[in-house]
Amino acid sequence: MKRQVTLILLAILSVSASFADGLMPFVPSNPPAMKPLPAGRTPAYVSAQGFRHGVNLGNYLEFTAGMSGVQVSAREFRLMRVEGFDHVRVPVAWSQYTGPGPEYLLPEGIFGRVDWVITNALNQQLSVIVDVHHFRELNADPSGQADRLSAIWKQVAAHYADYPNKLAFEILNEPCDQATADKMNPIYDRVIREIRGSNPHRTIFVDTCDWASIVQLNTLVLPPDDNLVVEVHCYDPFYFTHQGASWGGADVQVRGIQFPGPPAKPLEIDPGLKLQPYVLRWMTNYNTLPAEKNPSGPAAFLEKLAFARAWSDHYGRPVYVGEFGCYTTADPESRVRYYKAFREALDAQKLGWAVWDWSAGFNYWDKTKGQPVAGMREALFPSSRK
Ligand code: BGC
Repeated sequence: MKRQVTLILLAILSVSASFADGLMPFVPSNPPAMKPLPAGRTPAYVSAQGFRHGVNLGNYLEFTAGMSGVQVSAREFRLMRVEGFDHVRVPVAWSQYTGPGPEYLLPEGIFGRVDWVITNALNQQLSVIVDVHHFRELNADPSGQADRLSAIWKQVAAHYADYPNKLAFEILNEPCDQATADKMNPIYDRVIREIRGSNPHRTIFVDTCDWASIVQLNTLVLPPDDNLVVEVHCYDPFYFTHQGASWGGADVQVRGIQFPGPPAKPLEIDPGLKLQPYVLRWMTNYNTLPAEKNPSGPAAFLEKLAFARAWSDHYGRPVYVGEFGCYTTADPESRVRYYKAFREALDAQKLGWAVWDWSAGFNYWDKTKGQPVAGMREALFPSSRK
């Protein structure tokens, strides 16, 4: 009896612990206006087959002042395909090129550069996703910038209307800050109608809010359009993947975090870093918890990816993980173990993915050596015989 009571208590505790992050177990909780479609039987599912293992062409066409950009040559698209990638996600900072409203005209120059990327990728049988990246004004004022986003898509969609269906559009990378779901759901609806005017059959990717977070799948309200893929990003465990990243803020100052934890010798934290209590707690758990519960291990993403799968099956929308990855500030062995574990978890949940990135700081490819960064090929493409 005592044992039974203990077991029941343990069960209640573990369920409530999972409930605490709002994810498990999966209970459909999107607003009622979000109607399920037949899972596996829409054009979006057919199209998603072309977007299974991809790579982000980071720091190229979304390059902004203050970033270190990359150069890309035409032969790199062949290398991507030969490595085993079936698609390339192409971030483009379209909003930086618009003229004044209400037309927000985009100049020929930026189209020329995007055309070059798409054409070279398609020539190598790669599928392509073109997004709108770094539209910071929209994140600050979504309603005030909705006309501009719509005008961008009117022009981009018209320009690529005759391109093959292997080209897909992604409306907006990582809405965040003020761009919450109550603001973005109607904006998405409007932009989808704008795109459908010239591209009735093209696949459109739609990011969840709060930086394309998996938790935000629950807030989406999509129109009944059956050629939409829902996109999420996941950089968990963030303090591991972004250690030392200048854009990651004060929480990611600690270097030397390994994957998976715990480390053989506990990591000492310099009190001078003045870390927030929640970061310090994370570091203590990293130093002490066993591998299967360690915050710098697969436990950081397994439940989230299972949730994405359950949500996708319920709502009949393919879910795609368009960004995951680890900055090269982490030690090379940990990085490779992380990419392998994350890729295995994605494959186990049958979720399409794209790594961040090809050659810009989260490198898959080492441009100096003309080969993949050691261990990356094996981590992502285990059956590769190269
Ligand atoms: C951003 C990149 C950044 C990466 C990882 C992407 O969404 O566009 O600038 O390096 O996320 O943080």
